Amino acid sequence: MSQFNRRHLLGLEGVSQDEINHILDTADSLKEINQRPIKKVPTLRGRLVINFFYEASTRTKTSFELAAKRLSADTFSLSASGSSITKGETLIDTAKNLEAMAPDLIVMRHSSSGAPHFLAKHIKPSIINAGDGTHEHPTQALLDMMTIREKLGRLDGLKVSIIGDISHSRVARSNILGLTTMGSSVCIYGPRTLIPPYAESLGVEIASSMQEAIDDADVVMMLRVQRERLEDVLFPSLREYAQRFGLGVRHLAKAKPEVLVMHPGPINRGVEMSPEVADGPYSVILQQVANGVAVRMALLYLLLSPETK
Ligand code: NCD
Repeated sequence: MSQFNRRHLLGLEGVSQDEINHILDTADSLKEINQRPIKKVPTLRGRLVINFFYEASTRTKTSFELAAKRLSADTFSLSASGSSITKGETLIDTAKNLEAMAPDLIVMRHSSSGAPHFLAKHIKPSIINAGDGTHEHPTQALLDMMTIREKLGRLDGLKVSIIGDISHSRVARSNILGLTTMGSSVCIYGPRTLIPPYAESLGVEIASSMQEAIDDADVVMMLRVQRERLEDVLFPSLREYAQRFGLGVRHLAKAKPEVLVMHPGPINRGVEMSPEVADGPYSVILQQVANGVAVRMALLYLLLSPETK
């Protein structure tokens, strides 16, 4: 019966338009629970969701935790610091031990690309990828698409410009995969050293200036400079980055009147965008965070509820 017959969500690669629409429709209908005085339904009562985070996270981790709680699942979090991972336990050993506690689903963030795929091969519970290295961050792209669809009424035929450190961004990669599947055209822009050589093979256009990326864009998505992933110095300084690739009010003066400004967070204010833009009328950054809870509720529901199978 379901258009979503998967056991895991490891990435948006290979996820169809119907599946994405189904996830977003489910998220739209669950969103209302978050506005009720009693923000809880019994749907996943007795199910166990483990948040297994090897990398720092504020929004994603709390959002998954809230999503699980609002559906009445039991949940606990394990992070690298404060666990036996710091004592040298291997990923597979930690995962097997977690599996022994009989979770139904593990949400996993890891600094190595492919880590959740590895786990999915070796243990039984469902796995959701909450960000793996520079590879994918599917739930971020889904909440971004939910926000765009909610604000602009559709995803097909839109121009979405993604600006910044494309090479190291799992957010960019998942959004490119998801948005092109949904019929948006994606344009990218950033320092040449941070545009991956395979960009064109992903079906995106590469802009030659900031203004070209912003003109006619329905959505401008700014990315954080991934300082923790920059092994070499790939641009001169943050100050110069801000001047050449930061989004300011002046850029938006020429943009479409209904343009949306997005950012996955955490923002480096004054680097990727000025505070006036981050807090300004085009910004939907906090709606993205609110929709994150609804999208994660939808995924937990679709992956775990027997009714959907
Ligand atoms: C992103 C991430 O961790 O990939 N943040 C998030 O999940 N909201 C983006 C980033 O860290 O730049």
